[in-house]
Amino acid sequence: MKALTITPGRANSASVEQVPEPALSDGSILVRALELGICGTDFELISAQYGWAPPGNNHLILGHESFGRVEEAPQGTGFQKGDLVVGIVRRPDPDPCLACAVGQWDMCRNGKYTERGIKERHGFGSEFWRIEPDFAVKLAGGLQDVGVLMEPASILAKAWDHITRIGQRAEWKPKTVLVTGAGPIGLLAALMGSQRGLELHVLDRVQEGPKPQLVHDLGATYHTGPIQDIGIAPDIIVECTGVASVIAESIDHLGNDGILCLAGVSSHDQTVNRDLGAVNRKMVLENSVIFGTVNANRNHYRMAQEALLKADRKWLLRLISRREPFENWKLALTRKPDDIKVVIQINSN
Ligand code: BGC
Repeated sequence: MKALTITPGRANSASVEQVPEPALSDGSILVRALELGICGTDFELISAQYGWAPPGNNHLILGHESFGRVEEAPQGTGFQKGDLVVGIVRRPDPDPCLACAVGQWDMCRNGKYTERGIKERHGFGSEFWRIEPDFAVKLAGGLQDVGVLMEPASILAKAWDHITRIGQRAEWKPKTVLVTGAGPIGLLAALMGSQRGLELHVLDRVQEGPKPQLVHDLGATYHTGPIQDIGIAPDIIVECTGVASVIAESIDHLGNDGILCLAGVSSHDQTVNRDLGAVNRKMVLENSVIFGTVNANRNHYRMAQEALLKADRKWLLRLISRREPFENWKLALTRKPDDIKVVIQINSN
């Protein structure tokens, strides 16, 4: 079968290769891949900044934003031929740590977790893939055209879940939220903010293209320029750019008892000169919380599904800028200025 592969550690090694059928050890459910979403992590993998092949392999099958149709599922797994499914990305560490032992692999403590298409496990970027029943998520009816957004949505479902848990440390009635970055992650963060009835602001660099209107259609205000110009002290900031200067500004303008959620992975070597004493003083005197969040557990996929079901379908579909057939994989991996989410169509049905 064909698969989109890279050689981790070797930049620009992405290619489509013939590879053996997926190993039974990947799981008892055989899935015919339909779509694969491409995200910033994939570009990091392709540029050799990140990523590990499975032990004993040189190559890694790329892809963690999956969507497919069950081809074969043994009886008793709860799945049957024809079901639409998405694969969970992370697998718990083998020890397992405190968190992995209770299904919270997204909070793995010892770093020995593995991830499909990222860390030591082949991904979903192949014509067929296999998955363990415990790590397959059945898609609710009607989500077929946006099923590929489930994985990125799960990341934001976790972010909001943790924001809420942190907020509830004391009496808490948040009113304003700022989302920095209007890429797929920022827009899904904004969607979930709007679903919580919050006054929503979204900040991005671009002034043109689809982003301003997408933000507007959520009932939110779109901003470019410095955070200071927005003129609010948000109760919540969901930082999705990973840009150091934006993070610094976010800290400066966070409201009292505010929560700054860092959801964007930064590149290295971004030095910003900061008076950490002043940062500490503000955080202590204002009960601020700054926290990072990565990955998602099974509960977050359930929450993501609820959020996608509640969302305006036409709005969600506008997040998918392009669907490229598998043979055009090079085009899919070429960034265009107006792209939000680019999807590779692996099989048409
Ligand atoms: C994926 C997560 C993963 C993270 C770090 C993200 O792009 O969506 O599932 O945990 O990268 O590898």
